[in-house]
Amino acid sequence: MAGFRICGGEKIEGTLRVDTAKNAVLPILAASVLPQEDTVLTDCPRLGDVECMRGILRMLGCESCWEGDALRICGGALSQGEMPEELSKRVRSSIFLLGPVLGRLRMATMAYPGGCEIGLRPIDLHLSALKRMGVRISEEGGMLRCDGRDMHAADIHLDYPSVGATENIIMAAALLPGRTTISNAAREPEIEDLQRYINAMGGHVQGAGSPLIVIEGVSRLHGVTYQPMPDRIATGTYLCAAAITGGQIELTNARPRDLTAVLDKLRAMGCVIAEGEQVLYLSAPERLQSFDALQTQPHPGFPTDMQSQMLALACVCRGASVIEEKVFENRFAIAGDLCRMGANIRVTGRAALIQGVERLHGAHVAAHDLRGGAALVLAALAASGETLVEDVHLIDRGYERMEEKLTALGAKIARV
Ligand code: UD1
Repeated sequence: MAGFRICGGEKIEGTLRVDTAKNAVLPILAASVLPQEDTVLTDCPRLGDVECMRGILRMLGCESCWEGDALRICGGALSQGEMPEELSKRVRSSIFLLGPVLGRLRMATMAYPGGCEIGLRPIDLHLSALKRMGVRISEEGGMLRCDGRDMHAADIHLDYPSVGATENIIMAAALLPGRTTISNAAREPEIEDLQRYINAMGGHVQGAGSPLIVIEGVSRLHGVTYQPMPDRIATGTYLCAAAITGGQIELTNARPRDLTAVLDKLRAMGCVIAEGEQVLYLSAPERLQSFDALQTQPHPGFPTDMQSQMLALACVCRGASVIEEKVFENRFAIAGDLCRMGANIRVTGRAALIQGVERLHGAHVAAHDLRGGAALVLAALAASGETLVEDVHLIDRGYERMEEKLTALGAKIARV
């Protein structure tokens, strides 16, 4: 397994162009089975999770190929709805395929999905919504068999604004006759991006970004060349890299409006941030200030995908900080590793109390999940001495060649 060897203490300084968003690309890859023709995703990131989705799509009959930085997906070739067990267990986003495959073929089979070890991550909201749309679901030996021959439009209320369930319903309804509505829908910017993609193919989806989404089913969608949105979590992560090292960074291809909650916190910690149309600039103080209670929430609240990075920052702040994780129940797995690096963290249930220390020191640690792994890299950038972060294949799932980007910004980091 690959690791990162990091010599801490260098300031992160320079300019970086933010990659396209993983969490926008994954549902769009699933939705690419809806049109009869090809989808070309420009500037598509080469990530572990993208390759896994390509693997699943290939098994369903949909080949895809790289054309430079663009990914062409032959979604029209969808020929069967049985998703391979091994791959669907490995990537959580395989669940996204249930809706669009049902929409196209009116049948689908898949194993319970996998993904990061950050909590139980049930799929009850996805399944109950599909049942409301007339899908008959049975379970056999860990496999879900979905029969969509009687599928119909429906009014669906989500008990919780799940991102994946909202996206799945939109995709299931895009080709279904009639009007489907989703109330208490998730409002994440990636859902707006999915709406934009489906509408660019001739679909009728409205309301994404608000709690009420309306989908008027169309009989056919056509191929399209599409540029998905920039990655707001990668944006936040690289801002944190500058913040934790007392550095300065300019991020291009960034959308500040997607990151308000994160920018507010970084400002409260003493960072100076300037926002432009597609650009963000951050200048960090020598030492960060601790922050008042941070609570993760569905968008537009503080994103759970930035929680681990803020935990790393809190470790070296002046004063004590409190973080409450309200979305996933198991997202403090890196606290032990950070303590091995000299941090002072007390975790009680879903809350962590962090007493900032002057300096972390290098240690031998391992990523447990994607964002936690990125947070360990941040901590290592600020630590004295050398840190070895193992299992960086988990980081590669969501950050394209992170070590090259950080090297270009002045970090001493190597893949080993
Ligand atoms: C998506 C993101 C992930 C992010 C998360 C929350 C992608 C590919 N992944 O994940 O990076 O951390 O949103 O912003 O876009 N839940 C249920 N039942 C369900 C579905 C969800 O109880 O059927 C719970 C989950 O266990 C979790 C919470 O709802 O506690 C949020 O999950 P959800 O919004 O669905 O996240 P994902 O779509 O899995």
